[in-house]
Amino acid sequence: MSKKFDVCVVGATGAVGETILSILEQRNFPINNLYPLASANSAGKKIMCQGKQWTVQDLASFDFSQAQIGLFSAGGSISKKYAPIAAEAGCVVIDNTAHFRRDKDIPLVVPEVNPHAIAGYTQRNIIANPNCSTIQMLVALKPIYDAVGIERINVATYQAVSGSGKEAITELTDQSAKLLGGNTDINVEVYPKQIAFNVIPHIDVFQENGYTKEEMKMVWETQKIFEDDNILVNPTAVRVPVLYGHSEAINIETKKKITATEATEILSKASGVTVLDIREDGGYATPFTDAMNHDDTFVSRIREDISYEKGLNLWVVSDNIRKGAALNTIQIAEILIEEYL
Ligand code: A2P
Repeated sequence: MSKKFDVCVVGATGAVGETILSILEQRNFPINNLYPLASANSAGKKIMCQGKQWTVQDLASFDFSQAQIGLFSAGGSISKKYAPIAAEAGCVVIDNTAHFRRDKDIPLVVPEVNPHAIAGYTQRNIIANPNCSTIQMLVALKPIYDAVGIERINVATYQAVSGSGKEAITELTDQSAKLLGGNTDINVEVYPKQIAFNVIPHIDVFQENGYTKEEMKMVWETQKIFEDDNILVNPTAVRVPVLYGHSEAINIETKKKITATEATEILSKASGVTVLDIREDGGYATPFTDAMNHDDTFVSRIREDISYEKGLNLWVVSDNIRKGAALNTIQIAEILIEEYL
């Protein structure tokens, strides 16, 4: 492809934004002009991408008619305000926040699962990137869904702090360093409880039904992406003291019985999936040492449920900042420019 595009990255100085910039470079995305955007505090900073230096600009005064594509990851309130302005100016927004995901006229896309949905972007000039936990779960489950059908998903997540941004990474490392040095005077700001050496069964706000919003996102988004309102999802979302990489213990109830061997065969051929499943010490994926900095979602511990005939267990691990956010966004942008722009 010879055509090049003017691209703005909203939240370019954040945990996801920085990874977006490095993936744009790694995948040689056809960039004409790049506009890294952040708050006024970061305006004037220089960043390198594709061998050129670019200056960070203040989002508040940016003229979106200069860009054809906008990659947004500066938080829901920023997207709420600026994504419609960008869309109106003719810039197609791919939004990483939860703000638009449930809107019926906004496609919610995992390229390995429902790339066809991108076509719907013309309705509002906005495409939503799903929640990180949903993305890796559906990359792993789609091949099984297609083969035998899935009635119900039970999932517990083990989510890295990087999903809450740079401040959370600092909170975990600072707390850990202090506690290891015998200093118990730690800051507890990003999370409601100490995250170092701890586990917190609470992500995003509580809902009336007792689930958290992070958990309900996995329900709503799975149904929307699979275009299946009947699929049942029962999630528990947990924050763990891991820097990068989300893990998920998943149990599915399939429509037809599938053996572990059949599931392994299907997943071994699936796009975006690496099966790492040897039944011996270390023969499975872990977030920090296997998934971090990798594009693929790793599937391990594939085994038939001993308590239910049509049940199957999987351990699914992926880099939450990469496939869970930045990479998925750029894969959507790649399809957009190849097929639609
Ligand atoms: P800045 O670095 O200038 O504050 P993270 O998710 O790692 O916390 O990053 C959040 C990203 O969103 C950063 O790039 C941050 O820019 C950006 N951001 C936060 N608030 C605003 C705002 N009001 N206007 C523009 N960008 C913002």
